[in-house]
Amino acid sequence: MTVHFIGAGPGAPDLLTLRARDLIAASPVCLYAGSLVPRAILAHCPEGARIVNTAPLDLDAIIAECEAAHAEGLDVARLHSGDLSVWSAMGEQVARLKALNIPVSVTPGVPAFAAAAAALGAELTLPGVAQSVVLTRTSGRASAMPEGETLEAFGATGATLAIHLSIHRLDGVVARLAPHYGADCPVAVVFRASWPDERIIRGRLSDIAGLVPEEVTRTALILVGPALGGETEVRSALYSADYDRRYRPQSADSPFTSVGDE
Ligand SMILES: C[S@@+](CC[C@H](N)C(=O)[O-])C[C@H]1O[C@@H](n2cnc3c(N)ncnc32)[C@H](O)[C@@H]1O
Repeated sequence: MTVHFIGAGPGAPDLLTLRARDLIAASPVCLYAGSLVPRAILAHCPEGARIVNTAPLDLDAIIAECEAAHAEGLDVARLHSGDLSVWSAMGEQVARLKALNIPVSVTPGVPAFAAAAAALGAELTLPGVAQSVVLTRTSGRASAMPEGETLEAFGATGATLAIHLSIHRLDGVVARLAPHYGADCPVAVVFRASWPDERIIRGRLSDIAGLVPEEVTRTALILVGPALGGETEVRSALYSADYDRRYRPQSADSPFTSVGDE
């Protein structure tokens, strides 16, 4: 018996990994974070599975579900939105299960920031413009940001920011970032990336707050940074015709000529 932690992706049921689909199909118990995991994904559960929405449960109740399944020898598919490596609360569950000697596995999922970038058709790193992506958030009621992890500090780097859990504070985000990126900096808000009602709002720091409809208050990502403009003078070396590299030696003298494919 294993509790399988599974990244259920950003929402679209076909953005599950094959491993995730197969584990869900093979697990007679499914615990899903119902605030963000759409019910369509539950269609992969086997017939007669015990399916529990954990949104109204506390940690003790979730662990009690796992213990009950463990006592019966039943595998559990534990679904969280996106990927498990960010804001999934997986860590505290795994710690409790390990203390109970209940085996766990972890299956990655498509994170929301990647789905949002795909919806925009955007590359978040552009040569000469931005080579880092910061996945971050602002302080919430339940979690304060650690000292030092401020929008201002990240903004000072000029990196592309993917700001989670903060759409309800868009005004404040804009006010804090404009001094670093400038009012003209491109911004995109992607609401429910990959869901049927996905919405994309593009603007600049100067006007984005006025462009986002009032009803967009959650499940949205704010992407900020010059890379969202999509323009760069600098080409990547990877596909440059005269860049000497292992898979495309440029001359007989190239150190890569004798290396061949490995
Ligand atoms: C608790 S975090 C979960 C993040 C998730 N573990 C991941 O890998 O993306 C929830 C936040 O992620 C973002 N999010 C999750 N799903 C989204 C989606 N389909 N479209 C846009 N943003 C999404 C929103 O900022 C939301 O407030």
